[in-house]
Amino acid sequence: MTLSRRDFLASSAAFSAIGAPALSKALLELIATPGEVQFAPDDYGKTKIWGFDGIVPGTEIRLKQGARVQRRFVNDLPQASSVHWHGIRIDNAMDGVPGLTQEVVAAGGSFDYDFITPDAGTYWYHSHNQSWEQVARGLYGPLIVEEETPLDVDRDLTWMIDDWRLDDTAQIAGGFGAMHDNSHAGRLGNFVTVNGDADLRIDAKTNERLRLRLINTANARIFTLGFQGASGIVVALDGMPLEAPEPLDQIVLAPAQRADVIVDITAKAGDGAVLYMQDREQAYALVEILITGETSASSRDPVLPLPPNPQSSLGDLSTARVIPLLMEGGAMGGLREATLRGRSLEMGELVSQGFVWALNGNADMPETPLLRASVGETIRLPITNQTAFPHGMHLHGHHFREVDAGGRLGPYRDTLLVNRGETREIAFVADNPGRWLLHCHMLGHQAAGMKTWMEVA
Ligand code: C2O
Ligand code: CU
Repeated sequence: MTLSRRDFLASSAAFSAIGAPALSKALLELIATPGEVQFAPDDYGKTKIWGFDGIVPGTEIRLKQGARVQRRFVNDLPQASSVHWHGIRIDNAMDGVPGLTQEVVAAGGSFDYDFITPDAGTYWYHSHNQSWEQVARGLYGPLIVEEETPLDVDRDLTWMIDDWRLDDTAQIAGGFGAMHDNSHAGRLGNFVTVNGDADLRIDAKTNERLRLRLINTANARIFTLGFQGASGIVVALDGMPLEAPEPLDQIVLAPAQRADVIVDITAKAGDGAVLYMQDREQAYALVEILITGETSASSRDPVLPLPPNPQSSLGDLSTARVIPLLMEGGAMGGLREATLRGRSLEMGELVSQGFVWALNGNADMPETPLLRASVGETIRLPITNQTAFPHGMHLHGHHFREVDAGGRLGPYRDTLLVNRGETREIAFVADNPGRWLLHCHMLGHQAAGMKTWMEVA
């Protein structure tokens, strides 16, 4: 494998994820507002973004497990918006889905979010209105919920990985929600950043142990990530601890997925280490780790599982209700018709209204939910992808486990990558009352019909 530098490099880091100024107001604000970032080399000038508190990523929110998040969301954008707290088993009224859990926050308006974080782990927040545009413009930030007892690591770092579509003046390209993107793989970018930095470098020492929180915030890109000069062990996926941590070779993160990796630096001074992304035959360095010295490895304990988060037990799966979910449509998908708001429409008509995907025959949000569950009921959801593209399916307000063909349970997650032609089953306890979205996190797919909802009461 060869590691080649990107040819389009930022010369300086305009922002890092850490270090937002402390606000001293009684009620902390989270302001969605335009900002500027020096993404590309200096002679390009700054890129205009939309960010929480005007930066990319937005201000890090970090608190202890079980603590309360209170933020007045202020919308200083020219568009209506909202905030979704991705992966949090949240009070439904705080989930941030316009039309389902709250009214959209108009330009100039505000909304007070107030919720408890029951599970430790790596989460994130992002716009949930016109997300295919607003997230593409930079409206996301990290939400880190710390375990009660901190891990024995030298540093705890959050790396939000994004790909942007920039034009040749290094501004964010328009054409948000274009049907060609929405009906294919989504809005793929041409410029990758980590924490809003195309050339992120950190210093580290040989034998240093890092906890890295990797978050894929891209609209559509599936990242395949790996390390050179470092050995990693995955301890959590989508914020939730693995019962058995797994050595990392390469890890695939669909949009919105996260991985917590304990990384031991093995490179020696002069060698350097990297986080790279693999794209077909090529690997590209995303973060360069410069080795500045050495610390002793002798006191290193083996990596242990993180303490489990409280979760309802799935119970007896053989008696659980099964609700199959069929994904259809998109380019080369062969879908002929689907129901849109109660009316059956042919593909041509669907497309003219901006829809091209269907879940169980419905394009866009159906009037009746995919399922109504009573609180505490276990649901099994076999998801069949009959389209020509992969999809990252996200369930709000809950964590699910994958059930494999042999009935074995996978780790808890909130977003599942389902490749074309696959059927993958998830099971969860519907233990959080309210109306919850289930959608593809390739945001253009969601815009073009790949979303539904469930009601838990
Ligand atoms: Cu991260 Cu409905 O979204
Ligand atoms: Cu999709």
